[in-house]
Amino acid sequence: MRIVLGVAGGIAAYKSCEVLRRLKESGHDVTVVPTAAALEFVGAPTWAALSGKPVSSEVWDGVHEVPHVRIGQEADLVIVAPATADLLAKAAHGLADDLLTNTLLTARCPVLFVPAMHTEMWEHPATQANVAALRQRGGQVMEPAEGRLTGKDTGKGRLPEPLEIVDLAMDVLARGRVSQDLAGRHVVVSAGGTREFLDPVRFLGNRSSGRQGHALARAALARGAEVTLVAANVSLPEPAGAKVVPVTTTEELRVAVLRAAAGADAVVMAAAPADFRPVHSETAKIKKAADGSAPVVELVQNPDILKELSTERLRDGQIVVGFAAETGDETGSVLDLARAKLARKGCDLLVVNDVSGGAVFGATDNEAVILAADGDEVPVPRGSKTEVAHAIWDQVAARLG
Ligand code: CTP
Repeated sequence: MRIVLGVAGGIAAYKSCEVLRRLKESGHDVTVVPTAAALEFVGAPTWAALSGKPVSSEVWDGVHEVPHVRIGQEADLVIVAPATADLLAKAAHGLADDLLTNTLLTARCPVLFVPAMHTEMWEHPATQANVAALRQRGGQVMEPAEGRLTGKDTGKGRLPEPLEIVDLAMDVLARGRVSQDLAGRHVVVSAGGTREFLDPVRFLGNRSSGRQGHALARAALARGAEVTLVAANVSLPEPAGAKVVPVTTTEELRVAVLRAAAGADAVVMAAAPADFRPVHSETAKIKKAADGSAPVVELVQNPDILKELSTERLRDGQIVVGFAAETGDETGSVLDLARAKLARKGCDLLVVNDVSGGAVFGATDNEAVILAADGDEVPVPRGSKTEVAHAIWDQVAARLG
């Protein structure tokens, strides 16, 4: 696909080199259009070398090819990363004083703006009004991430991680502008695997990477939702714009999810909570016995959070979604066991993964069937975890009415 990577003049321009590299590795034809200010941060040779194409900021280069019109017209997707306050203002008002702003006016494909600036500039009513205007006109504007900014200060305004930008870009490329059907909704997603400590250094855990939960959070953010992500021991970049609550144990996960769920339209339990915890967690490290014997660990069952959410129904009309990793056995097929689990847990939707071959854990793609309490059965073909996430939100959004 033909992608235009517009780069405005912010220090985060250096992170866009990584965005460019990833887009190129995925086989896309990328034309970089930096502004003159962007070239103060990262020079044209870097963009030219990484994209394999000449780079220009001005409409006066190669005029006979009419680049100020052609580049925009031919694009399948335009990404502007970083999009500065100045660039957003120009785009919102249709100004066109360089190659990038001309390209934005001539492009008829989806446009993804990835803002990065200091918190004050992002929060300024002028910037917010420009963002609202761009969104209202069909532009996809990513929320900035929170964290360390250029100086010693921290706050909202960081450029999201390159991986996240590329993920959303691929989403927009595949689906067009992402539907805003979750705008005004609050959703809670749990992700990762909990740990139950035997002593201060040892724990019982599981192989959940948190990738599917993170993909769900990012997809919901792209669809306009306010997202609380309860993340159990996940080592992935935080989805920009999500409220992230880090937890360790199943009990901590339970408390965080129930608290957030009280005000949520939907809760998706993508986490793998440990089903058991040691009856005693030692405060000092357990030592090896001199006689070679090993300690016997007694376990007790943890509460089932999904079942509790489904039974308590913390908010009217709330959609509760569970996951089931099944292998099937002599008592039934994967789907038989999943149907029984859906009934037992009492949730509205159950996303069923067949894990017979040890698949899913840590993998970047996934395949599933979504079973609904109302009898629906929706197969989700093998695809990225982002695609699976959107398929899940499609079902949730349809049921939120
Ligand atoms: N889950 C939960 N609380 C737990 C364990 C699991 O909320 N203590 C949720 C998971 O987040 C997932 C769903 O329940 O959405 C399915 O988990 P699974 O481990 O497959 O269910 P189990 O109840 O452990 O299955 P089984 O009854 O077959 O042992």
